[in-house]
Amino acid sequence: MRNAIRQAVDITKVSESKIGQVDFNNLNFGKVFTDHMFVCDYVNGEWQTPKIVPYGPLTLDPSARVFHYGQAVFEGMKAYKDDHGDTFLFRPDENFKRINKSSERLAMPEFPESYFFDGLNTLLELENDWIKPGFGNSLYIRPFSIATQASVSASEADEYKFMIICSPAQSYYSGDVSVLIAEEFSRSANGGIGYAKAAGNYAAQFYPTNLAKKQGYQQIIWTDADTHQYIEEAGTMNLFFRVNDTLLTAPISDRILDGVTRKSLITIAEKEGIHVDVRPIKVSEIVDAATNGSLKEIFGAGTAAVVSPIKAFGYKGEHYELTPQENSYAAHFKKALLDIQYNKVEDPFGWRVKV
Ligand code: COI
Repeated sequence: MRNAIRQAVDITKVSESKIGQVDFNNLNFGKVFTDHMFVCDYVNGEWQTPKIVPYGPLTLDPSARVFHYGQAVFEGMKAYKDDHGDTFLFRPDENFKRINKSSERLAMPEFPESYFFDGLNTLLELENDWIKPGFGNSLYIRPFSIATQASVSASEADEYKFMIICSPAQSYYSGDVSVLIAEEFSRSANGGIGYAKAAGNYAAQFYPTNLAKKQGYQQIIWTDADTHQYIEEAGTMNLFFRVNDTLLTAPISDRILDGVTRKSLITIAEKEGIHVDVRPIKVSEIVDAATNGSLKEIFGAGTAAVVSPIKAFGYKGEHYELTPQENSYAAHFKKALLDIQYNKVEDPFGWRVKV
């Protein structure tokens, strides 16, 4: 908890929890939601008193601008429970700053810090039983903001809803992932909204991802909009390439999301003396490295994906399989990250925040 005095939140509790109906050993990512949700409306230029209410559908006017012009931004966070029953967030300030940065880009009002953290802490205390201890169990937290004003006039709205919903989660991907490097699709161009966690950036991914699926790949790797010669990020996560013992990752830019997991892994690697080369990565060098055997690993990094090993990639009709590594960086970094998140080790970086 940040301040002794919390921002007031009006709470209406459910009469009966649905937690008994949930099979926590067989969770599909993002399908089950907890009993309550956080809601705060922006009206007349001000955020109103936040509320926590039973989880349920919203009523919106069909002309609400989110439906027409996509003014919608979101975040992905997780709460972790340790073996003593204490709950932690991981670098929540980063998510808070990023949703406001995304909102600024989409001409949406920023959300106040005290509303965000006091609302989130109150919600997590209420949903404590939904956060199960043990590596791999977490509560996925989805803050988001949408334009609710009724009108199809093509300008930014005057009314918004900021909400937080929570979903008990295990892994996002089951097993290793294979990816297709895009020859013609991009997440964003310079000057676009790629750096924002805007809903539309993810909608734009579904069509190319479906094409990739038809070729047997689960996910797309975006390449740059100008030349399609440089690797950017994957559909749901940032990327790392291990070439011999060096880690490569693309720099963040106008087009690439400044991933919290990505930057945490860079910090952990550097502390351990592993060289991380943050620079533009040519597709051709990854293809060459796969061909000559110096490409040891590829893995994705994200809140939902955690650290996801990539076992193969496709590019221009060719398929490249990676040889499994005995001491893989992906497994090592995943454990180092989870150890901090689940309060198993000291946190030398000050990333863990107790709820
Ligand atoms: C996350 O990792 O939290 C994300 O928001 C990615 C999402 C597409 C599942």
